[in-house]
Parts: sequence; C-alpha cells; structure tokens
Amino acid sequence: GSENLDDDAATSPSPLVLTQDELKKIAAYKAVEFVTSGMVVGLGTGSTSKHAVDRLGELLRQGVLTDIVGIPTSKRTHEQALSLDIPLSDIETHPVLDLAIDGADEVDPEMNLVKGRGGSLLREKMIECASKKFVVIVDESKLVDYIGGSGLAMPVEIVPFCWKFTLHMLQSLFQEADCVAKLRTSSETGEPYVTDNSNYIIDLYFKKNIGDLKAAGDAMLRLPGVVEHGLFLGMATTVIVAGKLGVTVKNK
Ligand code: 5RP
Repeated sequence: GSENLDDDAATSPSPLVLTQDELKKIAAYKAVEFVTSGMVVGLGTGSTSKHAVDRLGELLRQGVLTDIVGIPTSKRTHEQALSLDIPLSDIETHPVLDLAIDGADEVDPEMNLVKGRGGSLLREKMIECASKKFVVIVDESKLVDYIGGSGLAMPVEIVPFCWKFTLHMLQSLFQEADCVAKLRTSSETGEPYVTDNSNYIIDLYFKKNIGDLKAAGDAMLRLPGVVEHGLFLGMATTVIVAGKLGVTVKNK
C-alpha cells in the first residue's frame, strides 16, 4: 500500500537516479558553457531550452557573461528571456548568430533532427539556419536509430487556408510509409493549435521508415500550403546528450 511506498521513499532515497528534467538541465547547462561574452545567441524553445535560457540569465546577472544578445525562437522564449533581463534582438538586426542552443524531439546517428513538437519549428529553423554553430541539447530518450523511429509526430507548419486539403496531400505524399496525418489541436479547447506565425501544425505519424530524408523534406516544401517542416537535416554542429551514465558531446 501507500504506507510501504512512503517508507521506501524515506529510507532509500536514490540520489543517483536523475529525472528526465534533471537530465535536460544537465545538457542545457553544458551547452551554455559554449557561450562567451559578446556573442549573439539563438534561444531555443521547449522544456530543455528553458533551462539553457535560465542559466544564461543567471550568468548574465552574476556578471560571468556580458554583452550577450539573445535571439528568441518563440514568443514563449521571448517572454522568458525578457523576464530574465537578457538583451534581445532578431535576425533582421543580427543576420549571423554565433551560436544557437535548442532541444529536439528526435536525433539520429547522423545528427539529423525532428523538431517542432513544441510548435516553434519555423522560427527555430530560420534562426538556427542563421547561426554559425547550432548546439542541440537532449536527454537520451530523444536518440533514435532512424528519423521517425520514435513513432511520435513529425510536425509540419501549414497555412490555415483549406488545411484539410494540405493534410490530405501530406498523407498521400507518404502513403508508402503508412503515414497518418493529424491536425494538432489545443488539448484545452479542441480548437486548432495556432503557431506564433498564425499557422496550423499537421503532425505526421509513420508506420514505416520514410527513407530519403532530403527527398522527403523537399517534397513537403513543394506542396503549396506547407510553410516549413520539422526535419532539421545537417544543421546541428554539436549534440549534447545527457544520460544516466553521463554527458556526451558529439561534434560534426
Ligand atoms: C519546439 C521544439 C523543441 O525543441 C522540442 O520539441 C523539444 O522539446 P523539449 O525540450 O520540451 O523536449 O522543437 O518546437
């Protein structure tokens, strides 16, 4: 019963077993070690990136880092960075970033990524493409043998206009991979989830391997209602993975 569970918790704490959130934080803090004063830094979105932005704010407050300019990849991250007094700008003012730090939903052995389950893939891709270095931070649960291998969603940002048509086109494009396409909805309202750019998200689920990733990405972009997809191919320059056995840093 619950009494026994309480007893166990009281008598045998397990300080060596880290939660997933603690692993995310370890990866995030490690990435912030790559930031030096004077850098223009892309600030990612999601629960892992949140730790990196917190850490950056802390180091600025302590004066360990100075003259940092942050470029947020979402409204959420913009709000967080503002609350931490991190000086902010955008890629119109700073078209070349020194470094971007962001999480990912899947990372394959070639450092290709799926991103966007947090809904911010378009701004993330624009900002991370503009960065000289792109440091990806994940806990080990994000590692996959091949893209799509988690069985979870591959997000695609689309325009709201006739979204069912675009959904159908996306699903047809990947029929050989037994794709099911679903409109992302808000869990609270059931209404379509709306991105920071006033678009919708289609989540693609694959039962089979999608094969050539570059061809898949290009084919999606050729569909007129598609704005951007969550495949981030060849973009990551460093992947930091926090696992139960420690942290690994893999460079391109
Ligand atoms: C948001 C993203 C996130 O980086 C990705 O979803 C990982 O999120 P989390 O760090 O919360 O696991 O791509 O668009």
